[in-house]
Amino acid sequence: MTDKHSRTFTADTPQKIGETVNLYGWVHAKRNMGQIVFVDLRDGFGRVQVVFDTQNSFREQAEGLKPESVVKITGQVVERQGKAINAKIPTGKVEIQATGLEILNESETPPFEIGQDKAVDEELRLKYRYLDLRHDRIHANLLMRHQVVNFIRNFLNERKFTEIETPILTAPTPEGARDYMVPSRKYAGSFYALPQSPQQYKQLLMVAGFERYYQIARCMRDEDSRGDRQPEFTQLDLEMSFVTEEDVLQLTEELVTQLVKTLYPDKKLLQQPFPRLTYAEALKKYKSDKPDLRQDKNNPDELAFAFITDFPLFNKEDGKLNSEHHPFTAPKPDQIKLLDTVPEKVLSTSYDLVLNGYEIGSGSLRIHEPALQQKVFEILGIDAKTAQTKFGHMLEAFKYGAPPHGGIAPGIDRLMMLLQNEPNIREVIAFPKTDKGRDPMMGSPIPADTDTLSELGLQLKQTRNSKP
Ligand code: AMO
Repeated sequence: MTDKHSRTFTADTPQKIGETVNLYGWVHAKRNMGQIVFVDLRDGFGRVQVVFDTQNSFREQAEGLKPESVVKITGQVVERQGKAINAKIPTGKVEIQATGLEILNESETPPFEIGQDKAVDEELRLKYRYLDLRHDRIHANLLMRHQVVNFIRNFLNERKFTEIETPILTAPTPEGARDYMVPSRKYAGSFYALPQSPQQYKQLLMVAGFERYYQIARCMRDEDSRGDRQPEFTQLDLEMSFVTEEDVLQLTEELVTQLVKTLYPDKKLLQQPFPRLTYAEALKKYKSDKPDLRQDKNNPDELAFAFITDFPLFNKEDGKLNSEHHPFTAPKPDQIKLLDTVPEKVLSTSYDLVLNGYEIGSGSLRIHEPALQQKVFEILGIDAKTAQTKFGHMLEAFKYGAPPHGGIAPGIDRLMMLLQNEPNIREVIAFPKTDKGRDPMMGSPIPADTDTLSELGLQLKQTRNSKP
C-alpha cells in the first residue's frame, strides 16, 4: 500500500506496474469516449494516461475536468496491451486506473491552447510566458539548457577552472553596443553601467592570479534585437593565463565536441578537428566571416563548427578606426611594428567559433602591457586623459605583474538555439524580450514616476510621447 501522501512522478510509472501511486500535475488533455474518460496528466518531467471507466465513482468529475487544472490522481499502474500501447510517449506502455481524483486548483480556459503546435502570436506567448513554457518543446529546451550548462561546469571544474561572479552594477566595458545605464540615488547624476560582458573583470582576475576563470555570465547590450540577439543574454565567459591561441582553441574544441557527443549523440559533427580559416580566407572563399559549412544547409542535425582566426585589429568606419573585437585584444606579436604606420593592416590574435552560419563565440589573447594598451587607445582616438578616466584601472593593473592571458566567450543562447533546432534564441530563454526589447508579461520597461525621478535627481527632457 502506498503512503497516502507519497508522490510518484509520471515518468517513473513504468517502473511501478501493479502499484498504487499518487500523481500530481496538470490536466494536459481529456478525451470523453462515451463510457470511458481518458486524462493525460502532465507533470514537470513527463505525462501519463489516466483512465476513468464506467464503474469509477470519479468518472463524472473527470468528465468535467478543465484543461490545465491542477489535480491529484491516485490509481493503480497497469500494463497496456497490444494496440493500446503508445510508442510515442515514454510512459506509453502503462496507464493509470484511477481510484481517486482531487482537484487542487481549477484552471480557467487559457488564452491559447497549451501543447498544440499551432502558431500563437509572439506578444501573447510572452505575455503569458508561464503558460507558453508549459509547451513540451520549450520545456524540453530549458531542461536541455540546464544539462548543457551543467556539462560545461563539470568539464571546466575538472580542468582546474574556478567559477567567479563579477559585478552587474559596474562601469562601461566596450563590446560594440550601447550601455544600459542605471542611475545612482546616492550620487545623483552618476550612473552604473550594466556589463556588456565581464571582459575587464576577467582580465583583472588573471592579474589577481586565478589563472583559470569561468562564469555563466549575464551580459546586457542596448542594441536592436534579431533572431540571434537579445538585449540580455548569457555567455560562457572564460579566461586563462600563460596560454597561446592554440591552447584556447583546443580547449574550446574539446569542450564542444564532448558536449555534443554526450548530450546530442544523434547530431553529426561534420569535421574534426574543426576547420580553421583566417578571416581573409573566409571572406575570399565564402564572402562571410561566419560561413555555413554544412553539406546540407537545411539539415539542423549536421553541426559544422569552424574557427575563424587572424581578424584585423581595427576596422575603419567614416575614416575612424574602431576595434574589430574590443580594445583589449592583442595584435599578433610580429604585427606590433605596423601599429605606427599602417594600423588598419595589423592582424590580431582574435578568433571566432562559428557554427552553421552563426558566430557563437569570440575571443583573443589580450594586451597585458601598459605601454601597448595605451598605444591601442591612442590609435582608437581615446586620448590619454579619457583612457585614464575610463580604463586607468586596467593600465594600472598591468603595471603589477599582469600575466599574458587570453580567453573566449561562447554565447549559451545561440549555442542552445542551434542544438535544439530552434529558429530564434527566444525559444531557449525562459523569459526573453520581444524583438522591440519589451517584456509584455512584466510590462518592462516601465515609465518612472515623478517621485522616483526626483529621488534619483533626474528630470525628463521631454514629456513622454511613446509608452513602451
Ligand atoms: P562578443 O561581443 O563577440 O565577445 O560576444 C561573444 C558571444 O556572445 C554572444 N552574443 C550574444 N548573444 C545573444 N544576444 C546578443 N546580443 C549577443 N551579443 C553577443 C555571441 C558572441 O559570439 N568579451 C568578449 C569575449 C572575449 O573576448 O573573450 C565578448 O563579449 O555568441
